Amino acid sequence: MAKQKHGLAKRALDKHYPCYLANAPIAGASELDVLDKFTGERATRVGFADATLIRKAIVAAHKARGPMAEFPPDKRRDVLEHCVRRFTERQEELALALCIEAGKPIRDARGEVTRLIDTFRIAAGEATRSEGETIELQISPRTRGYRGMVKRVPIGACSFITPFNFPLNLVAHKVAPALAAGCPFVLKPAAKTPVGALIIGEVLAETDLPRGAFSILPCSNEDASLLVEDERIALLSFTGGLVGWDLKARAGRKKVVLELGGNAACIVDEDPGQPLDKVIERMAFGAYYQSGQSCISVQRILVHKSLYAKFRKQFGEAVSKLRMGDPKDEKVFIGPMVDEEAAKRIEAWMDAAVAGGAKAIVRGNRKKNMVPAALFENVPRTSDLYRKEAFGPVALLEPFDDFEDAINGVNDSDFGLQAGVFTGSLAHTMRAWDALEVGGVIVGDVPSFRVDNMPYGGVKLSGLGREGIRSAIRDMTEERLLVVRDV
Ligand code: SIN
Repeated sequence: MAKQKHGLAKRALDKHYPCYLANAPIAGASELDVLDKFTGERATRVGFADATLIRKAIVAAHKARGPMAEFPPDKRRDVLEHCVRRFTERQEELALALCIEAGKPIRDARGEVTRLIDTFRIAAGEATRSEGETIELQISPRTRGYRGMVKRVPIGACSFITPFNFPLNLVAHKVAPALAAGCPFVLKPAAKTPVGALIIGEVLAETDLPRGAFSILPCSNEDASLLVEDERIALLSFTGGLVGWDLKARAGRKKVVLELGGNAACIVDEDPGQPLDKVIERMAFGAYYQSGQSCISVQRILVHKSLYAKFRKQFGEAVSKLRMGDPKDEKVFIGPMVDEEAAKRIEAWMDAAVAGGAKAIVRGNRKKNMVPAALFENVPRTSDLYRKEAFGPVALLEPFDDFEDAINGVNDSDFGLQAGVFTGSLAHTMRAWDALEVGGVIVGDVPSFRVDNMPYGGVKLSGLGREGIRSAIRDMTEERLLVVRDV
């Protein structure tokens, strides 16, 4: 059965994928190789756009503002529901494509496809729900007889830039709310993992969206400057690294949404509120799923000193048992990192931390882009491994005495996306919610937990604005006021 399924994916990736300009497939200005991240061999080729195509896509999206705004909400919902149906039919093909192009272990890849479907389904539900309000304008004799109402209207053409680590669902978090809100868009998917987005394009091309509603164009970062700087674009939504802040500085008058990652922390309180083995199971998942290549992967683990020795031993054992290998193997938990450069970078950070006094509890040798799960303690707070976003299969342990120290430890970071707290104390739950400088506090689980309708985004260097369908729709629409005077 597994062989047959992999055969299907192989066939899917055997074809070359076109890119999409104004809803139609086109060859691109050139072709880009997409590698199988495990074998290092070419898996397929996709159309690659140049500046001319990007310019054409911006013009088309800008022209489609009116038609998209007038495309009725029930038709937007129908488009989104069509996507839900087609992704469900193509679920295994999508999962295997992800497994190959991103090196994502097949179980995680299937999970991402499920979330892709959820994300479009949530957006379908939101498409016919309008947010508006009436405003009482009669606040003095001067305003007698005036009524006020506010509705939300689509903001206009949007540009989206997405990263390699969730090639489907982080695309979905921009595309699905744009369709629900009535905004045309131009999307640049990550050049290392463009296939997921192009399959989404294939499905969107089956619909009756107004011409120009979508363009999906893998391209160079240089050519993507047009998506950042062109004033016909009303909103830029970027998920990726800290370069997002530079993009914001170049974005002119457009609205900017940034999701830029973090170095997520997780507290294990004196009373963790659940058996330690359950905490350890979730922590191993949260720190090492898809080799830590997630913005909310657990990086820093703060454990109450009364549990530290036991946690260290049991967690170390769990980490050393995580199986590394071919991501197509159902039993594999740790697959490849996206490329050897990323693997060498995290290896260098680990080496530098050790040189600064860190102690490895679990560590193995890197082979090309395969990095075994690693666990450290005594990591200097000034080291890159502590301060920056690791985005690799590594976690750091440290003990704390008092819950306030743990809160301060979590906040001792330039980032603030999500934090996890294992506690059985309601007082500590509320204190964490009040005091942690993050976009989301997850109690009873790891910070890596995300459901696709939650507001999701960070503070400090982690970003600006929130995704999660309803929050994204709010960003992609703006208030329009109507005042009516009774005469
Ligand atoms: C991310 O890496 O920002 C996305 C995490 C997720 O959607 O689970």
